Amino acid sequence: MAKSSVQIIRSKKELRAQVTEWHMKGLKVGMVPTMGALHHGHLSLIKEIQKHVDKVVVSIFVNPKQFGPNEDFDKYPRSETTDIKKLNKVKTDLLYAPEVGEIYPDGFLTVVAVAKLTEGLCAAKRPGHFDGVTTVVTKLLLQCLPDVALFGEKDFQQYTVLKQMAKDLDMPTEVMCGKLIRDEDGLATSSRNVYLSPEERKIALEIPKTLKQIISEIEEDNLPVEEALEKGSKHLLDSGFKEVQYLEIRQSEDLEPLTRTFAETSPILARILVAAVVGKTRLIDNMPIKIFF
Ligand code: PAJ
Repeated sequence: MAKSSVQIIRSKKELRAQVTEWHMKGLKVGMVPTMGALHHGHLSLIKEIQKHVDKVVVSIFVNPKQFGPNEDFDKYPRSETTDIKKLNKVKTDLLYAPEVGEIYPDGFLTVVAVAKLTEGLCAAKRPGHFDGVTTVVTKLLLQCLPDVALFGEKDFQQYTVLKQMAKDLDMPTEVMCGKLIRDEDGLATSSRNVYLSPEERKIALEIPKTLKQIISEIEEDNLPVEEALEKGSKHLLDSGFKEVQYLEIRQSEDLEPLTRTFAETSPILARILVAAVVGKTRLIDNMPIKIFF
């Protein structure tokens, strides 16, 4: 008996037609945008969104606009055949895998940009990155018009930016956040983890360990935030990281830096966020943290 398999669509016209047909039947449609090289983090988003909608669209598009000139666009892992097998396993309804021209036809001139939230953290070392993300996600959401779109907590700044964008632009899509998935050893699952040598992977594991250590020093030992962060950053460099691009604590809601004026609502629900480079690989991670003033 033939196994049911994911419907594959490469044009926005066919995508719109299929989603319109589902909407006419009263079905709710969810979208999980990805750049492929699918792993457990992506699959958990698909399983999560299935709880909220009737039909799930996953997009795979390695978006050239969100990579800097010296970044890994050319060598970014691409594995459509394996990805399709994984999508079938979790019973995805539709894969939207457009060519570049379907997203950015000749003469494309528009940039979608979100202010403020795209300053600092990942944006500091990746100028233009978030404009690339907001532009492509706008295109994908408008091409599909899903009721819900799910983004991972792993890219916490990205999720915050996209939520703001959908709200500001009155998009008819609810933007939701799916929980961060880790490999068994604790490293945040990422398509880029394949770049790590066994030695680099050992070093990489210091990221989640250091975040947990800082959280316990601040929440339980009352160590001042600055001191705990400085210690953590030094520990990462001593462990073999080439660079700590940022190690910061921000408010969860709006990524604002912590200030004592928020003391009325103590404890503040905050996030500790990090980006660090091991060998040639840039890794990011984050965890929730409570700050008591
Ligand atoms: P990509 O890195 O492929 O990630 C696709 C989605 O999976 C994002 O929402 C990301 O946050 C989520 N994700 C990745 N690793 C995860 C993990 N370990 N746990 C939970 N979720 C995880 O992020 C992008 O692609 C692109 O920027 C995109 C939004 C598709 C725009 O091009």
